[in-house]
Amino acid sequence: MFDTHTVPVVTIDGPSGSGKGTICQLLAKELGWHLLDSGALYRIVGLAAERKGLGFDDAAALADLAANLNVEFRPSEPGEPSAVLLDHEDISNEVRSESSGTLASKVAIHQPVREALKSLQRSFAKAPGLVADGRDMGTIVFPAAAVKIYLIASAEERAQRRYQQLISKGESVNLAALLEDIQQRDQRDMNRSIAPLKPADDAIVIDSSGTAIADVFSQVLSQVQARIQS
Ligand code: DC
Repeated sequence: MFDTHTVPVVTIDGPSGSGKGTICQLLAKELGWHLLDSGALYRIVGLAAERKGLGFDDAAALADLAANLNVEFRPSEPGEPSAVLLDHEDISNEVRSESSGTLASKVAIHQPVREALKSLQRSFAKAPGLVADGRDMGTIVFPAAAVKIYLIASAEERAQRRYQQLISKGESVNLAALLEDIQQRDQRDMNRSIAPLKPADDAIVIDSSGTAIADVFSQVLSQVQARIQS
């Protein structure tokens, strides 16, 4: 059972490109805690659904798939993303592609899928602690988390960061199209009726626009240290 009294949880939520993935990896490494990349779980459900030929409007079948995922996160070097295995097959590259992000956003709108993933996400809360990366970590999955951070950045800056990331992976991308996609995804994520993207009432909001990742990380770390050690 999920127990916030014994296992400290830090949640970092925010839109894609806000830098939360990098900050979560750095923080988990610094604290020596486990890491939950909840977006990867939605991406895996999307990919698995596509492979099985399931309809993206079939909430019951998608939820059944989500509840029975045979998934493993295999840690690589500290601070590096884990390898992702689905049915023992390494799908790490597919999981991080733009197209799996689109599949993820299609499965993420179904409440039964979110419900099925909730217990899987909570099972990541193990000693000595968990850093949870997502959209609804502080609001829904870990409402009693010890520290909740909500990271934001302007859409222009997030598009620029994503552009650099994809270019460095050899994907061909168009900056204007990325910006439009990010703005549309923000609207969808913030305005959906189920688990909309928003800060928890007790979240600390940090704007990373125009700030080096190292500076954002030190702001986050000092917030966490002030709350966890007090
Ligand atoms: O963070 P990401 O880009 O890997 O997320 C992929 C999609 O999954 C994104 O469209 C929103 C959705 N998602 C969600 O609804 N809830 C989460 N906790 C994490 C991701």
